[in-house]
Amino acid sequence: MVVNQVVFFHFPGSTDMDMPPSLLHSIQNQMQSKGGYEAAYGVKIRVKGAVFKILSDAKADLVHRQVNFKRDFESGESTLASSFTDLWTNATSYFFSILSYYDTDEADIRLDGKVAIVTGSNTGIGFETAKELAKRGARVILACRDEAKAILACNNIRNETGNSDVFYKPLDLASFKSVHAFSNDILANEPKLNILINNAGTGKLDNSLTEDNLPIEMQVNYFSPFLLTNLLLPLLKKSTPSRIINISSVMHYFGTVDLKAINKPARNWFQHSRVYSNSKLCNILFTKELSCRLEESGITTNCLHPGAVSSDIFRNQNAINRFLIRMLFKSSWQGAQTTLYLALSPEVACITGKYFSDCKESKTSKLAQDLHLARKLWETTEHIVRLK
Ligand SMILES: NC(=O)c1ccc[n+]([C@@H]2O[C@H](COP(=O)([O-])OP(=O)(O)OC[C@H]3O[C@@H](n4cnc5c(N)ncnc54)[C@H](OP(=O)(O)O)[C@@H]3O)[C@@H](O)[C@H]2O)c1
Repeated sequence: MVVNQVVFFHFPGSTDMDMPPSLLHSIQNQMQSKGGYEAAYGVKIRVKGAVFKILSDAKADLVHRQVNFKRDFESGESTLASSFTDLWTNATSYFFSILSYYDTDEADIRLDGKVAIVTGSNTGIGFETAKELAKRGARVILACRDEAKAILACNNIRNETGNSDVFYKPLDLASFKSVHAFSNDILANEPKLNILINNAGTGKLDNSLTEDNLPIEMQVNYFSPFLLTNLLLPLLKKSTPSRIINISSVMHYFGTVDLKAINKPARNWFQHSRVYSNSKLCNILFTKELSCRLEESGITTNCLHPGAVSSDIFRNQNAINRFLIRMLFKSSWQGAQTTLYLALSPEVACITGKYFSDCKESKTSKLAQDLHLARKLWETTEHIVRLK
């Protein structure tokens, strides 16, 4: 079992850091001696067996505050932090940073000899995902649209992991031509493919159409990953056991699927505001239908919500929103943990067609469970992407 309850102390704006082992043990001992406690806000924190990770450049200070807060709380001296800073620190820790966490350091899983593709891996969740796969010895292909950013990411991953088998190949999901060119390249040059991670995604674009005459957000988030996956299926089948992971979002709850209008631009502001959610709902329905079609094939496919993650996806937000997002949301590293869990863990080797969040299977909206809709969507999409 490698999923632990983790308490993250997250100081946004700073780089991720592991706590030195001696400090970690001292805190674990102090906390484990109590076996768990209720925080002031009614959040149950299970500390037994927990892993603590400090995400802060002010880590020592924060550790002391956390320990003091806990001691004060338990001794009844204080149920609320004594200053705004403490309140903020504790509230953010308890409310936003208690995660199930795939302990990538503890999980002794190697990927030597395996090949993985991660789309949109020059930044954010995709970058952290690709880096971890490379760290474990996989040959990793970064499928990205921006050459300069992708080469930089590639070099960073090579330097940080020591794995030189990390490559960039151009893929622009706003163009079916590019998807075909990428797939042809992979099919011609890669003898196998064990992990395909459809991570790339975009939000809040304008209502424009792509060169394929499709709404851009729908094409990048759904139509092109659908096409890409189907084109790469022969190689995935040849390389079993293999895994396909689709990044969806909890936003799918706000989504809907209108099969007659799915390839048309939004007609008004309200429709446009739902395109991202629609595309993320399609990702889940796609995963469900794909899993049925791949039964007994040796390929599993699952999808996930990575959490609310402070990443470039919010680059178009105003400065205040971006500040709040940085303060409150998960880091990209944290956001990558569920993807990594699905890509690596033996626990999910035979699980397929499911939706995960925080490294656990999670509930979806009613629409996302509609297998009839999933089949209809598949048939409609096949025509739109010209697979049929
Ligand atoms: N962040 C969150 O809170 C959150 C929540 C739920 C789900 N998600 C999902 O998680 C996934 C990763 O997002 P993120 O938060 O890591 O965002 P991000 O930092 O913006 O990364 C998105 C990646 O997708 C790439 N991309 C965008 N348009 C593309 C295109 N036309 N062709 C190829 N690649 C393209 C981006 O490339 P460029 O750098 O060139 O733009 C980037 O590499 C997305 O599917 C997103 O919908 C995120």
